[in-house]
Amino acid sequence: MSCKDKLAVVTGGLGGIGTAVCLRLAEEGAKVVATCHPAEADQVDAWKKAQQEQGAQVEVVAGDVSTPEGGESLMNEIVEKFGQVDILVNCAGITRDTTMKKMTSDQWDAVIDTNLSSVFYVTRPVWTGMVEQGFGRIINISSVNGQRGQFGQTNYSAAKAGMHGFSMALAYEGAAKGVTVNTVSPGYIETAMTAAMRDDVREAIVGGIPMRRMGQPEEIAQAVAFLADDASTYVTGANLPVNGGLFIH
Ligand code: CAA
Ligand code: NAP
Repeated sequence: MSCKDKLAVVTGGLGGIGTAVCLRLAEEGAKVVATCHPAEADQVDAWKKAQQEQGAQVEVVAGDVSTPEGGESLMNEIVEKFGQVDILVNCAGITRDTTMKKMTSDQWDAVIDTNLSSVFYVTRPVWTGMVEQGFGRIINISSVNGQRGQFGQTNYSAAKAGMHGFSMALAYEGAAKGVTVNTVSPGYIETAMTAAMRDDVREAIVGGIPMRRMGQPEEIAQAVAFLADDASTYVTGANLPVNGGLFIH
C-alpha cells in the first residue's frame, strides 16, 4: 500500500481511532495533519512526542469541526500552511447516549453537529481542490450503529447513517474526477468512547460479538489505509464494515 507524498488530514486525530489512523497513514508515506478540538490543545505536545517516538512526524491544527466557521477556518488554515489536501479522514465524533424519553434537543444537536454536519463543513473547503487536481480520497468513519441502530442512540445512529448517505451522494460527484468517497463502519473498538460506557452494557454487547472481543484502533486504520491507497482507484460509495461479525448483512 502507498500514500507516498500525499497530504492526509485526520479530524479527531488525537482520539483512539484517529491516532491509529495518523500513525498508519504516516507509515504509508503520507504527510499527516491531525486536527483536534481547541479543548485538547494542552495535550498536543505530549501527543506529538508520543507519535515521534513511534517514528511519525504528525502536525496538529486545532479547530471545532461542529460549526460552519470552525470547520471552514480549520481547513483553510491547513491548506494555507501545508497545501492541497489529498486524503481526508472524517473521524471526529462524540456520543450522548440516552433513551428517547430523556433525550434533550441539546444532546440531539451536539451529536448531529459534531458527527454529521462536521463532515460537510470540513469537506467543502477541500473538495474543489481535489476535483481540480484529479485526485482525492475521502473516508468517513461511521459506525455499525449507523447500519443497524442501537438502543439509546437515536442521535448517534441517525448521524452515522447520514454520514454514509453523504458518502454515497458525493461519490457520484467525484467518480469521473479521480476523487473517491467511502465509509468505514467500525464495530465496538477499544477507545475512550467505549470505555465511557456502563460496564454491564458493554460486557453484554461484547458477549454478542461473533469474534467475542472488541476491535483495536489499528484494525480500523487497516481499512482506512486500504481506501486511502493510491491503488484503490475503483472503490467508491462503499461502506466497509469492520465489526468482528457484529452485523453481517
Ligand atoms: N433492547 C431492549 N431493551 C433494552 C435494551 C436493549 N438493547 N437495553 C436496555 N433495555 C431496557 C432495560 O431492560 C430497561 O428496561 P426496564 O425499565 O423494563 O427495566 C430499560 O430499557 C432501561 O435500560 P437502562 O437501565 O439501560 O437505561 P438507562 O437510562 O440507565 O441507560 C443507556 C440508557 C445509557 C442508553 C444504556 O442503555 C446504554 O448505554 N446503551 C448502550 C448504548 C451504546 O451501545 N452505546 C455505544 C457507545 S460507543 C459507540 O457509540 C461507538 C460505536 O459506534 C459502536
Ligand atoms: P475518541 O477517542 O473519543 O476520539 C474522538 C475524537 O474526536 C476526540 O479526540 C475528540 O476530542 C474529537 N472531537 C470531538 N468533538 C470534536 C469537535 N467538535 N471538533 C474537533 N474534534 C472533536 O473516540 P474514538 O473511538 O476514537 O472515535 C473516533 C470516531 O470513530 C468517532 O467518529 C466515533 O463515532 C467512531 N466510532 C468509534 C467506535 C468505537 O467503538 N470506539 C465505533 C464506531 C465508530 P475530545 O476528546 O476533545 O472530545
